[in-house]
Amino acid sequence: MAGIVIIGAQWGDEGKGKITDLLAENADLVIRFQGGNNAGHTIVRDGVKWKFHLIPSGILYPGKPCAIGNGVVIDPKVLTDELDELRAKGIDLSGLKVSANAHLIMPYHMLLDHAGETKLGKLQIGTTRRGIGPAYADKAARLGIRVQDLLDEKILKKKIMAAMEPKRLSLRPYAKSPELDLQSMTEDYLTYGHRIEQYIADTARLTWKYLDAGGDVIFEGAQGTLLDIDHGTYPFVTSSNPVAASAATGTGAGPKDLDEIWGVTKAYATRVGSGPFPTELDDDLGAAMREAGGEYGTTTGRARRVGWMDLVALRYAARLNTLTHLAVTKLDVLSGLGPLRLCTRYQSPNEASFDHFPYHQSVLHRAGGEYEELPGWDEDITDCRSEEELPQSARDYLAYLSDFIGVPIALISVGPGREQVIWTDAGRRTAPFQRAAIA
Ligand code: GDP
Ligand code: IMO
Ligand code: MG
Repeated sequence: MAGIVIIGAQWGDEGKGKITDLLAENADLVIRFQGGNNAGHTIVRDGVKWKFHLIPSGILYPGKPCAIGNGVVIDPKVLTDELDELRAKGIDLSGLKVSANAHLIMPYHMLLDHAGETKLGKLQIGTTRRGIGPAYADKAARLGIRVQDLLDEKILKKKIMAAMEPKRLSLRPYAKSPELDLQSMTEDYLTYGHRIEQYIADTARLTWKYLDAGGDVIFEGAQGTLLDIDHGTYPFVTSSNPVAASAATGTGAGPKDLDEIWGVTKAYATRVGSGPFPTELDDDLGAAMREAGGEYGTTTGRARRVGWMDLVALRYAARLNTLTHLAVTKLDVLSGLGPLRLCTRYQSPNEASFDHFPYHQSVLHRAGGEYEELPGWDEDITDCRSEEELPQSARDYLAYLSDFIGVPIALISVGPGREQVIWTDAGRRTAPFQRAAIA
């Protein structure tokens, strides 16, 4: 049996959806463990693009057990819309389960997210404005409303009243907003409850069932390590823990259930929203990378900031997550860009140079990169299916990256399509590959 965690090793949008879809084929369960519909996970199969915000990226296998764990915050409107859309496309949703303990995003959370950002003005975080932060804040304040509350009108109404009471002042500008009307909010949420009732379950027990029977469970992360609320570039982070450790708390699995930890990284770096980004390319080359990589947000459509591969940050992510495997995506995007740079140290304005990810916000904000430059390649690599077919300089680039952070590369992605993937020798020794070989 294996518990396999898939996390973002950068600032999100690394291609977790594609990797989850690939590894899910022979898994017994795929479960999301944190985040909400701030996530946008893309899968491209047979030229068709699928975008998921809440539903685990294993759902395209008919009847595949897929769960939304207790650590996720759920906007029930987004969930029911996503379900309707998948149903309309003929997707079999019979394997889906939603944790009764997951917290809900309420209309006031979205308004507060919006208001908070507006108030911050130039200092804003650049959130997705989906109400994620305020929903996790209510969870921590023990004012959260959970999926199980949707099934009881009295409890639901009482809890909404209790949750809104301390927010009266901040919600005053929206006092007349129809979505804040207690009665209609309760009714709307009861309706969502009826619509998802068939999927509500004890997903911790479900996870144990598969693990204890020797099955394989994929824990699908959202966002990325550097957006982690404890270990990321606070306060420019999301409000949950995208690191691998939260695959346990966000599902009910124990730490010892997590056998393989896969970090997904692009072959370069991107970030959406504000906050430090030491290797950012704010020039024509950055713009060229953005176009070549289609770097526009899956959730908000915002242009992603683009930069060179940051090995200081990636090594930090490798340690924080105890990565056992790396999946490197979007290598194809680097074709034809000329010499390639990888950041190996940071430099502060006073010329001090250091090789670790700084804990202090002011240091990180002023840090720039020191780089190793390697030769690039011009060949189109999107049809390569083995390492041998890659240009030597592409192989050297990957070897440098992997050696620097001390984690083997298990697979290389050379295009958005499901088939555009190269398994390495290290990848062939992994649980998912072994299962695929048996299946
Ligand atoms: P996630 O949030 O980590 O699942 O990533 P997103 O789906 O938000 O963003 C990744 C984007 O890159 C999507 O549009 C994918 O279709 C695309 N993608 C994934 N792997 C590759 C790759 O190897 N090459 C290229 N060119 N695109 C890729
Ligand atoms: P996936 O799962 C990239 C960023 C936002 C913002 C910060 C806080 O697709 O990789 P939030 O709405 O979470 O309070 O915003 O986090 N962010 C993401 N960036 N990919 C994501 O998810 C993200 N989810 C949140 O842009 O900077
Ligand atoms: Mg994304």
